Amino acid sequence: MSRILVLTAHRFPDESRVNRALIEAVRPLPGVTVHELMRSYPDYRIDVAHEQALLQSHDALVMMFPFYWYSSPAILSEWQDAVLTYGFAYGSRGTQLHGKPLQLVVSTGGDRQAYSAQGYNRYPAADLLLPFQAMANLTGMDYLPPHLVQGVNDLSDARLAQEAAGVATRVQALFTA
Ligand SMILES: Cc1cc2nc3c(=O)[nH]c(=O)nc-3n(C[C@H](O)[C@H](O)[C@H](O)COP(=O)(O)O)c2cc1C
Repeated sequence: MSRILVLTAHRFPDESRVNRALIEAVRPLPGVTVHELMRSYPDYRIDVAHEQALLQSHDALVMMFPFYWYSSPAILSEWQDAVLTYGFAYGSRGTQLHGKPLQLVVSTGGDRQAYSAQGYNRYPAADLLLPFQAMANLTGMDYLPPHLVQGVNDLSDARLAQEAAGVATRVQALFTA
């Protein structure tokens, strides 16, 4: 049975509306481990051995976060710096992530139109996420198209529930990826 690790990153998890709903939609799925980085490491002191063991015991990785300044919250950046070490994630013997699918799930305040050449953010969200794609490339992960939940500032409860169900469907699809 394959297993999926959902790494979530938020600066203030208790103040989250959108990502909280997305997390609760995937938490009950069989074979899914939800790992909320900020709740585990509010002091940013990441247990590298524990994180690497988690990666080794799962077959696919989801990174779920709100878009902050066109990137992830700092805790996920810190996780990357600490956990994706030479000899583990990259380098000639750093093959631990090879072949594992990587799915990003990213909520953005801006809507789809805002992330276009004519929009106020000018660039497509997928382009702004290229550092994650490059990370997947270097670590041998199989980068899947990002799943975006956009225009979240004025999402109704009903729309948010729909989006959460869509995220659950996408995560479940990783079992056959
Ligand atoms: C510090 C900060 C930076 C943000 N930067 C962006 C951004 O670059 N692009 C964007 O579309 N939304 C941005 N937002 C809006 C968040 O993406 C949005 O509030 C979040 O996805 C909502 O999810 P939550 O309810 O789980 O917090 C930012 C919000 C904060 C607090």
